[in-house]
Amino acid sequence: MARRWQNNLDHSLITPKSAFLNRRQIMAGMGALAAGGIAGPALAKLGAMPSDYSTDMEPNTLEDITTYNNFYEFGTGKADPANNAHTLTTEPWSIMIDGLVDNPGEYSMADIMEGVELEERIYRFRCVEAWAMVVPWAGFELADLLNKVGVKEEAKYVAFETLVRPEEMPGQRRAILEWPYREGLRMDEAMHPLTIMATGLYDEPIPNQNGAPIRLVVPWKYGFKSIKSIVKISLTAEEPPTSWNMANAREYGFYSNVNPNVNHPRWSQATHRTIGGGLFAKREPTLMFNGYENEVASLYEGMDLAKLY
Ligand code: MTE
Repeated sequence: MARRWQNNLDHSLITPKSAFLNRRQIMAGMGALAAGGIAGPALAKLGAMPSDYSTDMEPNTLEDITTYNNFYEFGTGKADPANNAHTLTTEPWSIMIDGLVDNPGEYSMADIMEGVELEERIYRFRCVEAWAMVVPWAGFELADLLNKVGVKEEAKYVAFETLVRPEEMPGQRRAILEWPYREGLRMDEAMHPLTIMATGLYDEPIPNQNGAPIRLVVPWKYGFKSIKSIVKISLTAEEPPTSWNMANAREYGFYSNVNPNVNHPRWSQATHRTIGGGLFAKREPTLMFNGYENEVASLYEGMDLAKLY
């Protein structure tokens, strides 16, 4: 039996619907202006629509976002992905969706993108290493994809895997992690409207170093949950194994929600450094659930947050 998940978030709590519609109309008007040759903002390439879920914080520059990365398949240095990821072939691309779904199978990017309206989601992004950025993703809700393939009643978790292709991913020629990179979410986390599959950045196709052609983004969790270049999604009844937990269970748990009150065993999580702020920039306080507490705290009611690291 397929079960259709409902968003448990009241949109009107975030932005009144009228304001949202107005913004859409403004965007449409901007497009018309640009098409008519009147000076105005450049025409968006992906055409992602603004979203109520975006923060109004100033996004980091494209340069910051695409040159300071973690993507161990291309090396462990922050500049390695930008230097090495051009070797990755992202076309053709498909995702195997299997396990407890009504319509398992190999879905091409065209299948996945069919009927999808991209949204721009400007999200805070907080790495477990205590640095942060603000990123304007273009993407769509993971829930839309899961509802498209049909989630079976028994499915409780979603597991994700990254491509394994050592010929194109030099980091995979070494056992830095046990490949493929794996991540997972509980079903309600996967179905939450903040959880997106991103295919773009600054309204352009997402660069390889950021997880082309399609990656997960879960803004209230540490960045390592946001797995890149996904080729497999499995719906499971049991909590799936995840890369960082497999590598070091003492330091990384399954949930990994951003929590300034629970320190990493080797450093504090109370504050972070914002990338692009310069060497002497003041550290900023890290917020519970990375600032998304109102939206997601209810998912963890009755659970000991200190134990969910
Ligand atoms: N996904 C894969 N496949 N491999 C990785 O090494 N690193 C994770 C996450 N997703 C990683 C990954 C970590 S630790 C972080 S902080 C983010 O990607 C970084 O995303 P960004 O480089 O787009 O900022």
